[in-house]
Amino acid sequence: MINTLEWTDSGVRFIDQTKLPTEETYVTCKTHDQVADVIRNMVVRGAPAIGVAAAMGIALGVKNSKAENGGDLKKDFDQICDVIGKTRPTAVNLFWAIRRMQDKFENLRVRPLPQIKQALIEEAQRMHAEDIAANQAMGRHGATLMPASGGVLTHCNAGALATAGYGTALGVIRAAVEQGKKIHVYADETRPFLQGSRLTAWELMKDGIPTTVISDNMSGAMMRQGKIGAVVVGADRIAANGDVANKIGTYTVAVLAKEHNIPFYVAAPLSTVDLQTPDGSKIPIEQRNAREVTHIAGKQMTPDGVEIENPAFDVTPAKYVTAIVTERGIARAPYEDSLRKLADEAAVVST
Ligand code: MRU
Repeated sequence: MINTLEWTDSGVRFIDQTKLPTEETYVTCKTHDQVADVIRNMVVRGAPAIGVAAAMGIALGVKNSKAENGGDLKKDFDQICDVIGKTRPTAVNLFWAIRRMQDKFENLRVRPLPQIKQALIEEAQRMHAEDIAANQAMGRHGATLMPASGGVLTHCNAGALATAGYGTALGVIRAAVEQGKKIHVYADETRPFLQGSRLTAWELMKDGIPTTVISDNMSGAMMRQGKIGAVVVGADRIAANGDVANKIGTYTVAVLAKEHNIPFYVAAPLSTVDLQTPDGSKIPIEQRNAREVTHIAGKQMTPDGVEIENPAFDVTPAKYVTAIVTERGIARAPYEDSLRKLADEAAVVST
């Protein structure tokens, strides 16, 4: 069992994903500013984990507030949400979580301050538990799409480490393995941050799921050799038309999968579906520090002064996506209709 993040009496505790796979260490954040830093520095990463971290960061900030009346607490609350909201722009789960905490806060405004603080802590913990349940449900739906045996390729880390637990894409693989399917995972190493080789391989090995790490430029050759029966990845934001923003390199894999007639699946909770964003061209793409590209493990790999690009995500057009697995079921094209239907059904259940 991997504890990606958890609420504790002394603060929000995170496994430090920048140290894996060689060191399993934990950091405890005692302020919301510290939570914002661990999101920004990718100590915690992965869209659903970022969402839960944001909620816990807000709850922590409100808990620490010295405000003595509702008006001052509201000022602190807004400032805390602002700090958390400026950490990473692409994963919509961050903004989904902030909105959910804002709605909760609005509904509580007239209550005594200790009650508001406690209710926000409980809301963040509920989001943590709901995320694990959503991943398990996604696993049940998605496992039906996995081959009975053979290779499944994944990109980045969409596992327990990217969520509150169990994972989205890796949740689908875990559920398929639990059902007796004989899956061998091919994990793209995922330059520049190496989420595939460092994190996906680490957590799958812990579970005893057969895994081979390949560098990103090998996936086409593996497909051509018939080693890959399906691709399953996570998502950071899915637009209303089914375009998928996910870790840089996902688009390349999707195009290769189409060329080789290999199904390309995306597994993501409905909190990753952004119906307000009509298509992928409107999704903000985070640009990260050039040093992630110029250096590997502290060693310079590029000549001084060379130009660098480092977009953290790309957008895969919906036409490459065979199906999107959510906790409410499997969506297929046309995604405008299928995603909205699943989101509407989920809204009915939660009211
Ligand atoms: O930059 P990261 O590591 O936060 O990016 C993570 C991804 O792109 C994941 O594939 C995505 O968030 C889905 S995680 C269940």
